[in-house]
Amino acid sequence: MKPPIKLLIVAGARPNFMKIAPLIERIDAIAACGASNGNRFQYTFVHTGQHYDSRMSRIFLQELGIPEPHENLDAGSGSQAVQTANVMIRFEPLCAAIKPDWVVVVGDVNSTMACALVCAKLGVKVAHVEAGLRSFDRTMPEEINRLLTDAISDLLLTPSADANENLKREGVPDSRISLVGNIMIDTLVSNLGKARSSTVLHRCEARRKQFAYVTLHRPSNVDDPERLARVMDGLYAIAKEVPLVFPMHPRTQKMLTQYRIPLASNRHLKLLEPVGYHDSLCLTENARLVITDSGGLQEESTFFRTPCLTLRANTERPVTIALGSNKLTSLERLVTDAEHALRANVDSGRIPPLWDGQTADRILAQLAARS
Ligand code: UD1
Repeated sequence: MKPPIKLLIVAGARPNFMKIAPLIERIDAIAACGASNGNRFQYTFVHTGQHYDSRMSRIFLQELGIPEPHENLDAGSGSQAVQTANVMIRFEPLCAAIKPDWVVVVGDVNSTMACALVCAKLGVKVAHVEAGLRSFDRTMPEEINRLLTDAISDLLLTPSADANENLKREGVPDSRISLVGNIMIDTLVSNLGKARSSTVLHRCEARRKQFAYVTLHRPSNVDDPERLARVMDGLYAIAKEVPLVFPMHPRTQKMLTQYRIPLASNRHLKLLEPVGYHDSLCLTENARLVITDSGGLQEESTFFRTPCLTLRANTERPVTIALGSNKLTSLERLVTDAEHALRANVDSGRIPPLWDGQTADRILAQLAARS
């Protein structure tokens, strides 16, 4: 019998957990059915500790059935450099000791880039899940993370054809790229039942298709006091047309407090603590409109065909605009775009190719073929 392929799977921040859950679930399922002729995998799950609040981390592990991390690096918050360096310093000895066949990193957060860089220097092979996405906006920390991670990873597992095009344009040979589809949709599909049993609508007195779901946390929207105050003014104006449900990311909460921007949760604007995965899916499926700057919500709203306004100048997920229900908006246009979206007939949009719930299997097949 062939020895198992040793994987080291890294996650650190909230959006990473949805991307590793299907891989861990498939590996465990293969092990449970004792396939002796197929490829077997053994994994170590490393949590970098970039996100540490239970509402940003633990709740996702619990809801998604992800086992306790084998190792937690407790890297925590800090400036971009401090956080990245802390992950690297703590990850290097661990990776050197485990000697995995592959390290699997996902998405575009600081932990993703930090661990990929350590591996490249140690000569350990890295597979990047969600490779090739580009916003072409180097003021975003995530864009720097995407560019660097892809430049040094051995296997680039892409979610959509535009990602392949981006990588080819950067001179990456075809042999390093594989189009596997969107792993977030694996998680979404397998959690639909639980999401539909969520009580979040009842808890925030929201009625199906009669509210807008808001999430905003990007530094470009929340780190500048003047801009953040204008974003909040825009939301108060939209709340006159439709009730808003706004679970607040800790970064946004911290900035509102720091800049002393007054907040009033009322029946038109429900401010909540960050919500879990099932509640978030339930809000996305049932909203009349999503207003966000998150990458994941652009994709999830596309899957549910819920109209989405993305408060950003660009997106690394253009397929959500070309095929899906997403549209970019600006601070100047936010209120009129929202009014228009609320009046328009719901434009259904389409679900992009390979958003089919089978991406984890395609990833494991690629890893096996290259081990
Ligand atoms: C990070 C990712 C971003 C992702 C987001 C999802 C990078 C560069 N950014 O941004 O791509 O969309 O996660 O949430 O990696 N904080 C807490 N508790 C926590 C974590 C953070 O209170 O568990 C607060 C801290 O004050 C921290 C701030 O939030 O300073 C920002 O956290 P950080 O991990 O630096 O970046 P995010 O804005 O969360």
